[in-house]
Amino acid sequence: MQIEKNISLKPYNTFGLEAKARYFTEAQSIEDLQAILKTSEAQDNEVLLLGGGSNILLTKDFDGLVIKIDIKGIELQHENNEEVVVKVGAGENWHEFVLEAIKNNWGGVENLSLIPGTMGAAPMQNIGAYGVEIKEVFDYLLAVNRKTGKVEKFNNTDCQFGYRESIFKNVVKGEYIIAEVVLRLSNNEHKLNTSYGAIADTLKEMGIDKPTIKDISDAVIKIRQSKLPDPKKIGNSGSFFKNPTIDKIDYEGLKAEFSDIPGYELPEDKIKVPAGWLIEQCGWKGKKIGDIGVHDKQALVLVNHGGGKGEDIWDLAQEIQKSVAEKFGISLNPEVNVIR
Ligand code: EPU
Repeated sequence: MQIEKNISLKPYNTFGLEAKARYFTEAQSIEDLQAILKTSEAQDNEVLLLGGGSNILLTKDFDGLVIKIDIKGIELQHENNEEVVVKVGAGENWHEFVLEAIKNNWGGVENLSLIPGTMGAAPMQNIGAYGVEIKEVFDYLLAVNRKTGKVEKFNNTDCQFGYRESIFKNVVKGEYIIAEVVLRLSNNEHKLNTSYGAIADTLKEMGIDKPTIKDISDAVIKIRQSKLPDPKKIGNSGSFFKNPTIDKIDYEGLKAEFSDIPGYELPEDKIKVPAGWLIEQCGWKGKKIGDIGVHDKQALVLVNHGGGKGEDIWDLAQEIQKSVAEKFGISLNPEVNVIR
C-alpha cells in the first residue's frame, strides 16, 4: 500500500474536472483497506471514497485522503438450473460485469447495461434504469466498518433500498466501505422486463419479437447512447438530479396549468415527475455557458465540454433548481454527490 501526495483527480471523475487530492491511495483488497484505515493519513483527515467517479461533482481540491476502491474479482459461488450466485469485487466496472453476465447467460442485469461506475457504488444508490433496480437481484454485501475495521454483512433488507437510496446514503452515511457484492441472477430461464416504453419501441425497430437478455442489453445500450453523452467524449455524471416526487393534489394543480406535464403514479397518492421535462420547460436544454452546460438530448444531464470548473457546474445546478422552483414550485435534489 502506498499513499501518494498531491494527486490530480481528473482521471478519476467522469466529469473530467480538475481537483487535487492531498493524499491518494488505491485499495486492492479488504486487507489493504483495513491497513489504509489505520494510517495517520486516514485517521487525521477527511476521507473520500471513489469508485468509478461517475456520480461525483468535485468543486474544489480535496484536503484529505482519497481512497480509490480497486477490489477486483468475479467469483461464481453457487449454481443450479434456476439461478447463480456471484460474488463481485467492489472495484469491478459495472457494465463489464453486465457483459460478462450476458456472455454466461445469467439474467437480471441486462436492463442495467451501460450504467457507468463500479459494482461497489451500485447498491449505494440502488442503481436503476428501464424498469429495473439492482435491489431485485441483490443478495448481500460485505462492507468494512470504518471505525472498527471489521467486515460486516448487509442483506437485502438491511440495505433499506429505495429510489436511488440505501442505508449507506442515510442512517450509516460515511460509516462503511462496500468491498464485495453478492448477486443472485437467473440461469437459463429469464424473467424479462420490457415494460419500459423505449425498450419495447427499440426492440420493435430492431425487428425482434422474442428478445433474449442480449437483445434487451443491446436495446438499452442503443437508447442510452442516443440520449446520454459518452463521458470519454463529453464530461458528465449521468442524471444530475433525482426525479422529484410530489403529492397528487399538487400534480393536479400543475396539470391544470401545464397540460402536458408527465407524471408516474406511485403508492400513497404520490406522483413522480421527470426532472428532465421540468428543466427543459425552463429553457435549459442544450444551453452552453462557456465550457459547461446542459446536454442537448437529455436536460437532466449537466456537461463539461472540456476545461469547465466544478464550481461553475454547481452554480449552474443551483440556477436550474431556482428556475424550476419558481416556475413549478418543485425543488430538485442532486443525485450526484457534490463535494464542496
Ligand atoms: N424528458 C424531457 N426532456 C428531457 C429529458 C426527459 O421532456 O430533456 C421527459 C420525457 O417525457 C421522458 C421522461 O422525461 O419521457 C423520462 O426521460 P428518460 O426516459 O430519459 O428518463 P429520466 O427519468 O430522465 C431516469 C434515470 C436514468 C435512467 C432512465 C431510464 C433518474 C434520476 N434518472 O431518467 O438514470 O437511465 O430513467 O430508466 O432517475 C442516472 O441515474 O444517471 C440515469 C441516467
